[in-house]
Amino acid sequence: MQTELVESMAFSGVHRDRGELRIHESVEELSTNLADYIADLSEASVKERGVFAIALSGGSLIGLMGKLCEAPYNKTVDWAKWYIFWADERVVAKNHADSNYKLAKEGLLSKVPIVPSHVHSINDSLSAEEAGDEYEFDIRQLVKARMVCVSDISDCPKFDLILLGMGSDGHVASLFPNHSVLDVKNQWVSFITDSPKPPPERITFTLPVINSASIVVVVVTGESKAEAVHLAIDDLGPNCPSLPARMVQPTNGKLVWFLDKPAASKLESVQFCE
Ligand code: 6PG
Repeated sequence: MQTELVESMAFSGVHRDRGELRIHESVEELSTNLADYIADLSEASVKERGVFAIALSGGSLIGLMGKLCEAPYNKTVDWAKWYIFWADERVVAKNHADSNYKLAKEGLLSKVPIVPSHVHSINDSLSAEEAGDEYEFDIRQLVKARMVCVSDISDCPKFDLILLGMGSDGHVASLFPNHSVLDVKNQWVSFITDSPKPPPERITFTLPVINSASIVVVVVTGESKAEAVHLAIDDLGPNCPSLPARMVQPTNGKLVWFLDKPAASKLESVQFCE
C-alpha cells in the first residue's frame, strides 16, 4: 500500500487492489472533500465529453453531499450538464418517505439548477420488475444518444461516477449478501422483492454495471460499519467472505473509498499518525 498524507485528511493512500482510501478526521471534513471531489469530476467530464452522468444511492450519502448545494459549488458546477440516475431505488411512490428520489430531490436536486428532463428515476406506478425493465430501457436510450458512455470491454453503460453507500452487512446499492441478485450478469438493472433492509421491493444496478463505471466512490461513516469496511478492503486471504462491497471492483475504472476515522478504525492496512 502506498501512502501519502494529505494535509486536511487523516490518511490518503492507494491500496494494492482495493482502490484509493481517503480517510477523514470528521464527517464534516469528509463532506467538504466529497463535494470538492465530485465538483472536480464534473468539471473534467463536462470538459471531455460535454456531460456528466452520475448515479446516486440512498441513505446517508445524500446528506453527505449537501455541501454541493452551497457556495462555491452551487455557482461553479455546470449543473445543466448533469444527468442523474440512481444505482438503486426503493419501489415506492416518489413522495413516500422511503423514496431515494425524494431524498435526493429534497436534499440536492431542488437546490441546484438541474434540468428536470435530465433526472432519470423509476416509474413509481409499476411493479419492481416492470420498473427495473423500464429504467434499463431508459438508460439504453441514453447510451445510444451518448449521454452515458458505453464500456470499452462489455455492452454495459459506463457512468462517469457511481456513488454508493454501504450497510453494516456490506451491502451496496440493493445488492445484499448471499442474494441471487449478485449473480445477475445479463441485465443492467435487476429487481428484488425481499430486501432485508426495508422496504422489501427495490431495483438495483447489477454488479457488471457498477464495475463498468469510470469511477465508483463508496462513502462510509460510523463505527458500526468498521467491521464491514475491514472485510471489504483488507487482504484476508482465501477465507475472505464474499461481501457485496468487496465485489465492487471496476474493471477499467477507479474505486475510491471516502471514510471517516470510526469507519476506518478496523482497517489493518492503515496506521494513523496521531
Ligand atoms: C438504499 C441504499 C443503500 C444505502 C446503504 C447505506 O436505498 O437503502 O442505496 O445501499 O446506500 O444502506 O445507507 P446508510 O448510509 O444510510 O447507512
